[in-house]
Amino acid sequence: MSEKLTARDIMRFKKEGRKIVMITAYDYAFAQIVDQAGVDIILVGDSASMVMMGYRDTRFVTLSDMITFCKSVSRGVERAFVVGDMPFMSYQISREQAVRNAGRMVKEGMVDAVKLEGGKEYVGTVRTIVDAGIPVMGHIGLTPQSAATSTGYRLTGKDADDAVKLFEDAIALEEAGAFAIVLEFVTAEVAEYISHHLKIPVIGIGSGPGCDGQVLVLHDSLGLYGKSPPFSKKYVDLASIAREAVSRYRSEVLEGLFPAEEHTKHMKREEFEEFLKRVRTLR
Ligand code: KIV
Repeated sequence: MSEKLTARDIMRFKKEGRKIVMITAYDYAFAQIVDQAGVDIILVGDSASMVMMGYRDTRFVTLSDMITFCKSVSRGVERAFVVGDMPFMSYQISREQAVRNAGRMVKEGMVDAVKLEGGKEYVGTVRTIVDAGIPVMGHIGLTPQSAATSTGYRLTGKDADDAVKLFEDAIALEEAGAFAIVLEFVTAEVAEYISHHLKIPVIGIGSGPGCDGQVLVLHDSLGLYGKSPPFSKKYVDLASIAREAVSRYRSEVLEGLFPAEEHTKHMKREEFEEFLKRVRTLR
């Protein structure tokens, strides 16, 4: 069994110039698969709201849903560092609320760290959670929890003002004690500059190749979700493969081909004869 990675290992990878690989997972089976594939970080993302629960955006998954997803993933992982997303309204009200809910993600969801969205305005929250002993990953750029209603799903870092704000937010999160940050849908030049000038790892999604690592939503990469963003990459069309397999199963049942002899267990002939003798009078 490989040794479980820690936040310190993730930070060391950046120092060594080794790219960091992160992907989402939400259940035990896929957690085992992505862990065995050797990813460094598994994010139990609040994208679960869409890809696992069918809501239109990330705001609807609850803390208790997230804890269920987190514990299912954590039980399937031997090596990867597991980060759980703090869902919408689980950390925005007060620092006390944030640290209490981050604690639930760790104690009940068994995650190694939590992730929350927001820049400078959340440094107090990040500091409070870190001081409680829970590693925090920041998330700036496109922040889906606010994109749905306030900012829109837009590319960030397009002009100098926006880029300066992003860089200031990144520095503030690092100074507050975050061990890494996600940069979502940021122009490649700005993402590369921020990655280069931060001590902590910067994990990009839709932010070009210059980041210290990359993250993808599992369902986008496996072709399991119909509404993937343009910056994700589909590595396989698992939906077609699964549909084809289930439709073969359906045909085999309808045609009497499944179950076959190798899927079937029998009782001894004399036991069956005895059974028939005893039940004959019943019906
Ligand atoms: O919830 C999620 O999957 C995420 C990734 C897009 C980084 O936050």
